[in-house]
Amino acid sequence: MSDQIQSIISEMTLEEKAALCTGASAWTTTPIERLGVPELTVSDGPHGVRRVPNVNSMAIESLPATCFPTASCLASTWDVELIGAMGQAMAEECVALNVDVLLGPGTNMKRSPLGGRNFEYFSEDPYLAGEMAASLINGVQSRGVGTSLKHYAANNQEFQRLSISAEVDERTLREIYLPAFEKAVKQAGPWTVMCAYNKLNGEYCSEHHWLLTDILKNEWGFKGMLVSDWGAVHDRVTSLNAGIDLEMPGPQERRVEAVMKAVQSGQLDEAVLDDSVRRILNIVFKAQETPKTGTFDVDAHHNLAYKIATEGMVLLKNDGLLPLKSQGHIAVIGRSAESAHFQGGGSSHINPTRVAVPFKELQARAGEAELTYAEGYPADDSFQQEMIDQAVTNARSADVTVLYIALPNFKESEGYDRADLDLTEQQVALIKAVARVQPKTIVVLNNGAPVAMNAWLDDVGAVLEAWMMGQAGGTAIAEVLFGKANPCGKLSETFPLKLSDTPAYINWPGGASEVRYGEGLFIGYRYYDAKQMPVLFPFGFGLSYTTFTYSNAKVSATSFKDVDGVTVTLDVTNTGKIAGKEIVQLYVHDRKSALVRPEKELKGFAKVELQPGETRSISIPLDFRAFAFYHPSYKQWITEDGEFDLLIAASSADVRESLTVTLESTLTLPCILDKESTIREWITDPHGKLVFGPLYEQVKAHNREMFGGSDEGEDSESAIGMDIMDMMGDMPLVSVLSWQQAAWSSTPEEIVDGLLKQVHGKET
Ligand code: BGC
Repeated sequence: MSDQIQSIISEMTLEEKAALCTGASAWTTTPIERLGVPELTVSDGPHGVRRVPNVNSMAIESLPATCFPTASCLASTWDVELIGAMGQAMAEECVALNVDVLLGPGTNMKRSPLGGRNFEYFSEDPYLAGEMAASLINGVQSRGVGTSLKHYAANNQEFQRLSISAEVDERTLREIYLPAFEKAVKQAGPWTVMCAYNKLNGEYCSEHHWLLTDILKNEWGFKGMLVSDWGAVHDRVTSLNAGIDLEMPGPQERRVEAVMKAVQSGQLDEAVLDDSVRRILNIVFKAQETPKTGTFDVDAHHNLAYKIATEGMVLLKNDGLLPLKSQGHIAVIGRSAESAHFQGGGSSHINPTRVAVPFKELQARAGEAELTYAEGYPADDSFQQEMIDQAVTNARSADVTVLYIALPNFKESEGYDRADLDLTEQQVALIKAVARVQPKTIVVLNNGAPVAMNAWLDDVGAVLEAWMMGQAGGTAIAEVLFGKANPCGKLSETFPLKLSDTPAYINWPGGASEVRYGEGLFIGYRYYDAKQMPVLFPFGFGLSYTTFTYSNAKVSATSFKDVDGVTVTLDVTNTGKIAGKEIVQLYVHDRKSALVRPEKELKGFAKVELQPGETRSISIPLDFRAFAFYHPSYKQWITEDGEFDLLIAASSADVRESLTVTLESTLTLPCILDKESTIREWITDPHGKLVFGPLYEQVKAHNREMFGGSDEGEDSESAIGMDIMDMMGDMPLVSVLSWQQAAWSSTPEEIVDGLLKQVHGKET
């Protein structure tokens, strides 16, 4: 194929090349009939196929397709196989709907729960998000259909999303905002990656050479096609130079001309254009290998959507009210019982093949129970007391009440961030009023991101987080409520107590064209851990109708080399009376490190299904990266010798077992001492220590002369009442030498230069 592509490129005119790099329509690339290059059709994504029949339109209702749950729910399944199966099903729909590349998954981090698009993103944790993205991509692509991993990178808010600059330091990028992309690229090889709209550290992501070419294409070895988000390109020539192969949407005559002129004037090297052409053609022809024909199995996919929704729902509270009994009077309240809220607004909006109506699904399983219904709250943000009054009347006479509460689109959607974590005023008043007359109240939530519950959580008996649950979610809720399915989902993000507790709170959403990621590495549980703050529900938390115990935790080696990694094994037992699934999480805690690190970080997990009384052994491998951190001075991932705790947990706040291992680093790090290196850096660097050691003794002696006292131990205090060496340890060597100027025959700069020459073995 590459020979064929090479020969096509050699026959292409400059205009054809430039045209190929810009879309022909909203959803297709430019065909070149004379050379037998067909068009490529792409379609949103990410949790279903939004195939718009008119390729020149972005808004017209799309063809019916299965609406699967959105990413918050998917990640709460922690089920890589299931997500892979969903990918395969979506690929089948792509084949039937003539789609070559599905625009998803999205794997940006949930920096703040206010992000309007959080429902489309997996997690606050890069490891979990990366695993989910990789399995979705592998699933879709295993059927010969492409994906577009998006939105690369640091696309974490909707406020000024087309222009704001995310100001993020490199270590935070490498450890938090990039790893999910990196994992997905390396583990799954997406056919395409889509850049983000926003700027990163002052440059548009669409023009960011370091991000697109240095990291994605060169460092991670991304072989596919890099596409712009729709309308993200500002200067086409700069974006081509930076690495954007295909600009979407099209047509864009002026862009084509600009590219041609740039090549003719030498502003753009034709080899750069050729590389983009080659990447696009690779994908165009790869897509041809999968003929787009046939139909898809609507029922089977609906059932799969049901299964995923069931696994992703998270039981947050249960005072014994659930499972429901199929008898008595059940008051069903809340308009989302009749009008299912199962997806979010914006480009991901799917036209479902069918929708399971929650109330009907409940009714179908209610047996002898009598169900009544009251709307409870309106579709808009008006306050209607009479709806609450009717709900209260129904609840009062019932044996139990199920409240279906959906966060409306005007509070949560692509295009705008959430203003707060609250449900609508009427929804809060409704829950409180109903719970006051009916303590046996169960709240079922439909939302894509955490909501505040303080105002009512203590008043209700149970809460089921049902997310944006996809078209079959109504069935999943009914099955879980009646105990036909045992809930097993666990939160893929922290539910905070209140907005002002959240990590990005004082840096959100930014202004004056930039948003500062001031919390650095500390988003999600990393932040709450560091601050030792209570949360409403922790990351990784979820209840079941059964119980599990963990035992027999072992690690393959207590001392190991970083490159070898270790494997943790563990027995999990279902100690309850019904079958269930448990999600075991493995966090790594570094006892000591040169740079600050989060208290613990998720580095592995396993989901296991168990019959009552059954025990099964699970094993979770940990590799080099599970122990490493990104060192911005070395510009690489490094490990350090020392002890690590491996925390086996049922949630980020429920560590059940801990094992300690000792890591031996195999890295030989380059010497990074420079003119500004501190005394402490000189004496802790192995090369530095060697050459600086003798001088260090003299520096200490001069200090004693200048300030009195001794240089260590109990007498370390100087005549001016401070430990001089402690203070000087963090001063650049050159500055300390300047203080002691009189004592040296050469200048401080000459001395330091001399030392640097010795450690680097060359001129500095
Ligand atoms: C969104 C993308 C989407 C594209 C095409 C953009 O506005 O950010 O996620 O794939 O539109 O609809």
